[in-house]
Amino acid sequence: MRPSWRQIFILIATFSVAAHAGAREFRLGLITPPGHVWSTSAEAFGKALSEASNGRHSVTVYPSQQLGNEAQILQQLQTGAVDMAFLTVAEVSNRVPDFGAFYAPYLVPDIEGAAQLLRSEQALSLLDQLPRRIGVFGMGYGMAGMRQILTRDETTALIDLRGQKIRITPFAPIRDFYQLIGAAPTPMPLGSVYDALANGQVDAIDMDLELIVKLRYHELADTAVLSNHMMFPMVGLVSARVWVRLDEEEQVLIRKLMHAELDAVIDFYMAGEEGFEQDLRESDVNVVEVDREFFGPVVDDWDAIWRERAPALKLLRDLNTEKTE
Ligand code: BEZ
Repeated sequence: MRPSWRQIFILIATFSVAAHAGAREFRLGLITPPGHVWSTSAEAFGKALSEASNGRHSVTVYPSQQLGNEAQILQQLQTGAVDMAFLTVAEVSNRVPDFGAFYAPYLVPDIEGAAQLLRSEQALSLLDQLPRRIGVFGMGYGMAGMRQILTRDETTALIDLRGQKIRITPFAPIRDFYQLIGAAPTPMPLGSVYDALANGQVDAIDMDLELIVKLRYHELADTAVLSNHMMFPMVGLVSARVWVRLDEEEQVLIRKLMHAELDAVIDFYMAGEEGFEQDLRESDVNVVEVDREFFGPVVDDWDAIWRERAPALKLLRDLNTEKTE
């Protein structure tokens, strides 16, 4: 007997539900605006995952803090309300102080040193503690450029920074760095920085080279202190609640594809940092190049505080990445 149209319809419907049983629409949150390389690489990861899974999985990217600030995004990862995120390691260090070790002043000499460190087994092994400590899995590291200081008034010596209100990303290692300098670190999310610098709410900002030139912060400043004092890693995370529901094949695929995109972010900064510096030097801002000496005892004092809080500091300092000429 031939099947009826109704039976055929039920068969097709049953087959398509079975075929899409593991299909997922992942939500990925981050704080950077849509054109920023972290956001474009999140989009690229989504596209790669969709292609590799023949359209079974998709990723919707929520940039510009649409899902909240980083603390809120991390909280949502923990509950499983958000599936994935690209977060500053700064936010992770607020929960797992060992990650503060990445922000040791002059841990690496330059952007190549930062890339070398972030790709090292030692750095990657730190991710192993995340599921147990904060309920997320780390897929690998990206970064933004090295940190610099941009000041509204002239800066020629460390003493010029004393008492200055300096915008920082909200996390403890950078707060301690500026407190040791004798400045007044002022935590502020990225989105508020331009106006705060323009209207004098802060006297200076801690920022990477790319954003200094692309967001034209330098036009609001007298001096750019080219210090390369700190690296600024980012981490790709997946909620543990989501991760354990994926089969092994899906886990391997997601880890591979996200890791590749994060790695491409590192390549982006390695290729771009010199050009960003050139753009800065060609602008009207005064560029003052400084090194570790400029900060006097601050670097050792910082280590004295963080050696206790972040046992990984010794591991990372011992890596001793070389300066590239
Ligand atoms: C910042 O807080 O300065 C920052 C955050 C994300 C990407 C780049 C910079």
